[in-house]
Amino acid sequence: MTAHFDTIILGAGAAGMMCAAHAGGRTLILDHAKAPGEKIRISGGGRCNFTNLHSAPDRFLSQNPHFAKSALARYTQWDFIDLVDRHHIPWHEKTLGQLFCDTSAKDIIAMLVSEMRDAGADLRLSTALTSLDKTPDGWRATLSTGETVTSRAFVVACGGKSIPKMGATGFGYEIAQRFGHEIVETRPALVPLTFSGEIQEGFKALSGVATPVIATAGTGQFEEAMLFTHRGLSGPAILQISSYWAEGEPITVNLLPGQNALETLQSLRKSHARKAPATALAEHIPARLADHLAPTLGLDGQMADQPDRALRPAAEALGAWQLTPSGSEGYRTAEVTLGGVSTDGVNAKTMESKTTPGLYFVGEVVDVTGWLGGYNFQWAWSSGWAAGQAIEAQRRG
Ligand code: FDA
Repeated sequence: MTAHFDTIILGAGAAGMMCAAHAGGRTLILDHAKAPGEKIRISGGGRCNFTNLHSAPDRFLSQNPHFAKSALARYTQWDFIDLVDRHHIPWHEKTLGQLFCDTSAKDIIAMLVSEMRDAGADLRLSTALTSLDKTPDGWRATLSTGETVTSRAFVVACGGKSIPKMGATGFGYEIAQRFGHEIVETRPALVPLTFSGEIQEGFKALSGVATPVIATAGTGQFEEAMLFTHRGLSGPAILQISSYWAEGEPITVNLLPGQNALETLQSLRKSHARKAPATALAEHIPARLADHLAPTLGLDGQMADQPDRALRPAAEALGAWQLTPSGSEGYRTAEVTLGGVSTDGVNAKTMESKTTPGLYFVGEVVDVTGWLGGYNFQWAWSSGWAAGQAIEAQRRG
């Protein structure tokens, strides 16, 4: 027997569940995982950074920087905060507008499951799609349970490639390509950067050291903490610029944010005249980092011995340290996937395919990637809501 639904949603993650809560009519939401919202559960260290007070289109990367504007403007961070408040979920702002649950990310999953239940959506877990075909008035799908289901709308909400061990498959891109969509080249983003050779050896000794920096790559620049690891660099500043970094290109790190590096060294020359450069530098950067860098700065003897002509290149090195990563930690640890279904083929207001009516793309599978700090969930809520609204409006006709 074939069951008919108004909408089938593939993926019970953030975007799929939001869409299911708003699509109206009979909705089937499928996921091959055993539980819904597994990435929500592990996000934000288990407390889910569910949105950002400063969410705005300029905090998202896409080949078309205008694409995300409509959905983000129609379902905003304030709308999501309202929803969280209606469910009496306690939350707090951690830093830089980032909102986290006070108790657990599971509160957000429970909220979405309850919203879906209220909307009458049918959630099927541990269920995969085995075939999908276009019919004259919609879609016919077969499921791993052996059932055949049909629908008018089909929503691809199966996320990106990040963290394969949590069920990420890239299957959404295959569906998109099958129905004529272009895929903007995908790569891991919000990911630690790795280094090789001597640089990596040096970083090993610094593993665990964190320091505030301004990190720059391409057009991205972020003032936040940087962390040395055994394999390279991490911390929010580095995760942020990883989205802007292109393979083979250097990144630039200012180790003295908010300071004029030359003036800082000149003033250390006065205040720490009889001290070694590493000791003096430790006033401004962690001592282990100062010890590591001092021999590379060309400053011999004590601070008092350093003429301006020696301080200038040292200041340049501290204020604009250039490093070329050998790669990144990859999808294994990346928080998101950059690129995805090209926005050229998707209606920005409804998330519906321009070439295949009744096919929708929401969340991370689309070529829209947010900054670190709750922006990616906001995109999932906004795009899931936009598709849900559009499906409901069409159904009501
Ligand atoms: P999502 O990945 O959430 O959901 C896709 C669903 O589809 C999954 O349930 C998956 O099992 C299912 N699926 C995939 N292929 C399938 C198939 N073939 N058949 C059936 N089902 C399939 N963002 C943020 O804003 N704040 C934060 O705090 C964090 N923290 C964070 C931590 C970590 C460790 C990661 C990896 C990521 C984050 N993120 C984040 C990013 C955020 O999790 C991500 O952007 C959203 O979950 C994307 O939502 P989607 O619904 O698009 O995909």
